Amino acid sequence: MVTEISTCTVQSLICLMTQKNLSQENKTSLVKHPKRIKSFVMRAGRTTSGQSKAIEELGPQFLIPFNDQGSHSVSWFGENQVHQPLIFEIGFGMGDATAKIAQFMPDHNFLGCEVHQPGVGALLMKIQALALQNLRIVSHDAVEVLEKMIPAQSLDGAHIFFPDPWHKTRHHKRRLIQTSFLELLMSRLKPNGYIHCATDWENYAQHMLEVLNATPGLENQGLLDSGYAIRPAYRPVTKFENRGVKLGHGVWDIVFRMKPPVTNAIDLEALNNALDPWAK
Ligand SMILES: C[S@@+](CC[C@H](N)C(=O)[O-])C[C@H]1O[C@@H](n2cnc3c(N)ncnc32)[C@H](O)[C@@H]1O
Repeated sequence: MVTEISTCTVQSLICLMTQKNLSQENKTSLVKHPKRIKSFVMRAGRTTSGQSKAIEELGPQFLIPFNDQGSHSVSWFGENQVHQPLIFEIGFGMGDATAKIAQFMPDHNFLGCEVHQPGVGALLMKIQALALQNLRIVSHDAVEVLEKMIPAQSLDGAHIFFPDPWHKTRHHKRRLIQTSFLELLMSRLKPNGYIHCATDWENYAQHMLEVLNATPGLENQGLLDSGYAIRPAYRPVTKFENRGVKLGHGVWDIVFRMKPPVTNAIDLEALNNALDPWAK
């Protein structure tokens, strides 16, 4: 009996000590990381039979599965197209604008991110109807896609059209356009890469302009005195925008570009021009 108790006690002690060691070794891995606040909520919405069929039949060709191992765009677009500029779109909704832009810019590649399944199905149907070769979709949180799947300095542009405005002040933390998000996005943009946002919510437009202006490394391309941009010709009016306009909302386009890296290289042409009088 005594032996049994002592064996038990020793075992418990070993167990406790091991747990203590383990917990010390794994201190960092056991620390709970607070969940990142998402810029979306999964909306309920019926996926029609046409959209489901598109996901099933066209998905294998045009849907790129999310993976956190790092990906490469060669396999997304094929060898003939991989050298085309790559534009990343966040939250394409039902994909009307996305499909139109891809149709009119066949010499650019587009990667659209959307979490709403009916929208994914709807855009796949448009890809088929318009026989688009230059558009692929990832159905996943765009922030994680940027982090895990998009290599540094690989994007030529980013489109963020009518992101969820999160009207209430207590929800502003959910807005996509925040300094930390911009830092991530900028790390994936090439030098000179652009960010084009549009919104029909004035308070969000002001917030976007303020945050983008305050971000070092970006240059405002807006030509209006207010700092906003005239809607670039490539951006068609989106479905969400139409709804806002009908409600009497304004629309604000905001376009920024990555500043090219500062170089110390001597500008030989300028030097030549400056020294030209000496030669005479
Ligand atoms: C207000 S809708 C605008 C849709 C479309 N751009 C338009 O103008 O019609 C915003 C969309 O962004 C999507 N979204 C928000 N955050 C996202 C994220 N982190 N990743 C992917 N999609 C996101 C939502 O699911 C929603 O469909």
